[in-house]
Amino acid sequence: MRTELCDRLGIEFPIFAFSHCRDVVAAVSQAGGFGVLGAVGFTPEQLEVECRWIDEHVGGKPYGVDLVIPQKYEGMGEIDPEKLEGMLRAQIPLTHREFAAKLLADHGVPELPPENRARELLGWTEATAAPQIEVALKHERVRLIANALGTPPKEIIQQVQQTGRLVAALCGRVHQARRHREAGVDIVIAQGTEGGGHTGEIGSLVLWPQVIEAVSPTPVLAAGGIGTGAQIAAALAMGAQGVWTGSLWLTVEEAEAEPAQIDSLLRASSEDTVRSRSFTGKPCRMLRNDWTEAWEKPESPKPLGMPLQGMVTMDAIARTSRYAGAGQTQRVAFNPVGQTVGLMREVRSCREVIYDLVEGYLTASERLAALQPR
Ligand SMILES: Cc1cc2nc3c(=O)[nH]c(=O)nc-3n(C[C@H](O)[C@H](O)[C@H](O)COP(=O)(O)O)c2cc1C
Repeated sequence: MRTELCDRLGIEFPIFAFSHCRDVVAAVSQAGGFGVLGAVGFTPEQLEVECRWIDEHVGGKPYGVDLVIPQKYEGMGEIDPEKLEGMLRAQIPLTHREFAAKLLADHGVPELPPENRARELLGWTEATAAPQIEVALKHERVRLIANALGTPPKEIIQQVQQTGRLVAALCGRVHQARRHREAGVDIVIAQGTEGGGHTGEIGSLVLWPQVIEAVSPTPVLAAGGIGTGAQIAAALAMGAQGVWTGSLWLTVEEAEAEPAQIDSLLRASSEDTVRSRSFTGKPCRMLRNDWTEAWEKPESPKPLGMPLQGMVTMDAIARTSRYAGAGQTQRVAFNPVGQTVGLMREVRSCREVIYDLVEGYLTASERLAALQPR
């Protein structure tokens, strides 16, 4: 499983694990993979605390930080985070706020104590991501900065590369992959529609080979739907230099999640996810529930663009995550996950997941080798 990227990053297996949870990031890197911390929900101060914690627990191994700077969003061009937040808040219709509040009240989701109410705009824009990069680059073990939803701005690519780190960017279409390559990113992550979180419409098996061909010799990580070692063998057979995974790490022992949320994920089948704009404003794969269905109804308000819809739902995300087990919270909770959720049946440690993936990869490779003429 050793690809050139393993040598460039100093890792044993080209298995990249996206997580918002620092314990998962540290455990995956310790187990020979490459943990990547999703920074979108953190203020720069919180991100500093998380990175410092990972530095102390990662055993000298490398890890990455992931930001969200979309290609297009409301309020683009404004780079003062507070000014931007005020400007955007004024654009949110009251009907949207009332619709969201009623859904939560109807499902018995408790309110947050006033001191726990967070700012409404954290990641999702260049203005809020720039201070996050400053923080990430202060940490020596951070060896990769990834960006979701768009090609990172030129200055950011240069800023990261000048420090000797690699820049990666996700894509769900071939033309986005080409744009990443032209901008000079070091790694393109091709994510098929099966994937959890923001995702496009093309299936992994069809997207990966097209992106690999379009950006060659830029290395490609295959993402979207990976839950077994045999799938990793398939991705590497197509020419990917590794895999980028997300959903798998939501139900590991190290993940910080409420039991009710873990339960929803372990019980879900591959048919229980939907691409919905109802939480963030862009199509995002998550468990289907009363919330996603309510925003689909013709008489309901249409989800706003990014980051406005995320500002409307910030309170819902915080409340349904904090009170995951209360009332009918799971019926309106934000549970982003991919179709691979149907393969997630039990809680395992990160080390066990990596071990099972490597073992599955070896079995698949042997299966193929046995097909060679003797
Ligand atoms: C809960 C969750 C949150 C995610 N948030 C982000 C994010 O903030 N930034 C990002 O680049 N990708 C995000 N993703 C996508 C992952 O990075 C990854 O591309 C995806 O999970 C791969 O597909 P899989 O879920 O089938 O493994 C998220 C995925 C999940 C499941």
